[in-house]
Amino acid sequence: MKRVGFVGWRGMVGSVLMQRMLEENDFSRIAEPVFFTTSQAGAAGPDIGKDIPPLKDAKDINELKQMDAIVSCQGGDYTTEVFQKLRESGWNGYWIDAASTLRMADDSLIVLDPVNMDVIDKGIDAGIKNFVGGNCTVSLMLMGLGGLFKAGQVEWISSMTYQAASGAGAKNMRELITQMGQIHAGSEALLADPASAILDIDRQVVDTMRADAFATDNFGVPLAGSLIPWIDKAVEDGQSKEEWKGYVETNKILGLSDSPIPIDGTCVRIGAMRCHSQAFTVKLKQDVPLDEIEQMIAEANEWASVVPNERDATISDLSPTKVTGTLSVPVGRLRKMKMGPDYLNAFSVGDQLLWGAAEPLRRMLSILLD
Ligand code: HSE
Repeated sequence: MKRVGFVGWRGMVGSVLMQRMLEENDFSRIAEPVFFTTSQAGAAGPDIGKDIPPLKDAKDINELKQMDAIVSCQGGDYTTEVFQKLRESGWNGYWIDAASTLRMADDSLIVLDPVNMDVIDKGIDAGIKNFVGGNCTVSLMLMGLGGLFKAGQVEWISSMTYQAASGAGAKNMRELITQMGQIHAGSEALLADPASAILDIDRQVVDTMRADAFATDNFGVPLAGSLIPWIDKAVEDGQSKEEWKGYVETNKILGLSDSPIPIDGTCVRIGAMRCHSQAFTVKLKQDVPLDEIEQMIAEANEWASVVPNERDATISDLSPTKVTGTLSVPVGRLRKMKMGPDYLNAFSVGDQLLWGAAEPLRRMLSILLD
């Protein structure tokens, strides 16, 4: 594979992808990296340590057609606008995409190679050319609990999520910080006075959050100091689309769409920046001893690890603050539940922009470059 095109490399997910590719020296393996733009064709491309041509127009099918592979972090609207036209033009290259548009298509695979390398291998052999990154909560659940799935021990899972602002986009991350600042600014004087009453501070905070001036253009409602128990649009049976993805995408990734494992829960946005956390109730097929469960989880891939179910280890190691910006996916709070010995409690944390978005794409490209 010679020419690889990159679209949407300047956005948040694209920037994380570029950062990871530079860290792993991936560009040294690409003979001709070509960078595309929707607005600045002809301008200079990014500094990747080698000469590259000026930016090309991301909507120009003839330019895109020259690529052996295209990696897009540009978003679903771009995929919808360009992908079909490109295929209809006769282009037969590899399309690697962060957007959800093509995820459930029969001729696409959802890629998460530490979990589904077997499915990817079969797909490549069968001539699949479209590889799509999974939903972030799904990928992060599978990176953490992959060992239980691999061992065939999962009868069903309920997943309650605590999703970071980054999943909603860069503007939402900014809005979260703005909201935090507004809350602090509104209560600063009372906070500075040690004699002030906490209920007065609380009233001030709530007044700020309920005021018209509170920054809610992107989330629509306050997130800082609050939470939002709905992510994405409504689908069917009262589920949000984010909740629906948990079931369909997990089973597609695992190649189990014909005999799916039930997965359901409530997806909630919280005021973390870029780490998604999830609390799981796992119905095991049998009473597997806890030490075996821990071993399955820790040995499934090199990024999953087990945090002992103790207070100090949990609060220091199982948190967005600790995990953010890293590839590690710690899993903790592992214990059998009161419902019975085949009910497992678990909690995981993972970086939404790394394993949840950019890293599976980077690794898929790397697989195709091998
Ligand atoms: N849909 C996810 C979220 C991010 O809103 O957090 C993308 O996978």
